[in-house]
Amino acid sequence: MEFSIKSGSPEKQRTGCVVVGVFEGRKLTASAQGIDRAAKGFITDVLSRGDLEGKAGTTLLLQSVAGVPSDRVLLVGLGKDREMGESAYRKAIDTAVKALRATGATDAAFFLTDITLRKRDTAFKVEQAVLGIMEGMYRFDRMKSKPEENKPEENKRALGKVVLHLARRSDVAAGEAAAHRAYAIAGGVCLARDLGNLPANVCTPAYLATEAQALAKLHGLNCEVLGEKELEKLGMGAFLAVARGSRQPPKLIVLEHRGAKKKGQPPVVLVGKGVTFDTGGISLKPAPEMDEMKFDMCGAASVLGTMKAVALMKLPMNVVGIVPATENMPGGNAIKPGDIVTTMSGKTVEILNTDAEGRLILCDALTYAERYKPAAVVDIATLTGAMVIALGNIATGLFANTDSLARELIQAGDASWDRAWHLPLWDDYQEGLKSNFADIPNIASRAGGAITAACFLERFAKAYPWAHLDVAGTAWKSGAEKGATGRPVALLANFLTRRSA
Ligand code: BES
Ligand code: MN
Ligand code: ZN
Repeated sequence: MEFSIKSGSPEKQRTGCVVVGVFEGRKLTASAQGIDRAAKGFITDVLSRGDLEGKAGTTLLLQSVAGVPSDRVLLVGLGKDREMGESAYRKAIDTAVKALRATGATDAAFFLTDITLRKRDTAFKVEQAVLGIMEGMYRFDRMKSKPEENKPEENKRALGKVVLHLARRSDVAAGEAAAHRAYAIAGGVCLARDLGNLPANVCTPAYLATEAQALAKLHGLNCEVLGEKELEKLGMGAFLAVARGSRQPPKLIVLEHRGAKKKGQPPVVLVGKGVTFDTGGISLKPAPEMDEMKFDMCGAASVLGTMKAVALMKLPMNVVGIVPATENMPGGNAIKPGDIVTTMSGKTVEILNTDAEGRLILCDALTYAERYKPAAVVDIATLTGAMVIALGNIATGLFANTDSLARELIQAGDASWDRAWHLPLWDDYQEGLKSNFADIPNIASRAGGAITAACFLERFAKAYPWAHLDVAGTAWKSGAEKGATGRPVALLANFLTRRSA
């Protein structure tokens, strides 16, 4: 997909489709008015017949409008003028792309980027448009025997070129910079989605390692993959304990982007949970929706996706990605409830529930991160079902041992519209983590499950400013739209971009 930024008049564009907005109550945006004038009131006429009220999520496609040089005009309902906010804007973009996919248009001119959004600048609108269009054009049909027959309601001719039009010519330079950035981020999002969507029989720990190596080669990153023997030498007893039940050998994947001008600048370390399939182990999960546990490596996927975006943006900073990758399986060699293991930190853990495996692999990765003397560590994990109950599928849960880091991440989430919400990590919550036999258990009571999981990780993150993103509710969608979302790549890319500036 090619993007470009311009500031032009909709009625003068010669493209496959011009896209303009209509507010509820058939209220034309400035761009729609431009088309209407060129077409001698044709748009107003059509709307007065009642085919489009302007409600959010609706569209009307017009062909060969007299006086307009483009082949098609797509009218997109924007909802109420007064309620035009970030979500409505993103919805308008998504709706437009969906409608465009059904047409034969191979190029389009968007006049949605010129809508006024309170408190949001051109960069935001361009970034969201690029991300929304890329997201809408995304298809995962690698596992279909006849990919082209995947969606009969879609046109075979794919949209290849999009021009985003801005209201002011003076904004074009800023718009172009934003489009470049967003395109890099979208590349990372797509990678994260692809890895997440792949079935667990394909996307194994070894597969993730190979993907990381390929990524490194393509974008000039350093990549190191540690196998079982090396993990043993490091004393990663908790990580290895989870891997024991599986035939697939575990991998610790390390990716490094060395972009800092000054040598030896402390890196930001990203740690991603890479459980390529989570059966629960001996504490076996129930059958319904267990297939979705192939998404239990979405934290890892977001780390690889973010590393890709960082490399594409050539951020002038050091970033390290660490991914402990394993399956969580039952089996003759699997860990059992009550087993006690020694972590790389030396602390012993009583595994009361083998389904609380994410924290077991992350705790050793967090200890491993200490060797980088990091400026900050952010882990990303589909860690708890409790997180889904608490925040649903809208916000990612955020925990941190340093308030300024939490603020940075919240701001990055707001700026990229990949939002996170700060939850408490008070000492009082630590009290549930008591074991009669080891230093700590791997679970507390059911209450506040997302928080006590974060508390467990916090015990291993004392050496640096640390934050934890629980993406259990946001990394993938269930139901008819089942699939990985690529979140929180946009949040992380925004966070790192701000840090590098
Ligand atoms: N990967 C799951 C968390 C999860 C469950 C994410 C459902 C999204 C949807 C994690 O490994 C897990 O199983 N957590 C347990 C922890 C419990 C045993 C303390 C959970 O949330 O049930
Ligand atoms: Mn689990
Ligand atoms: Zn899990």
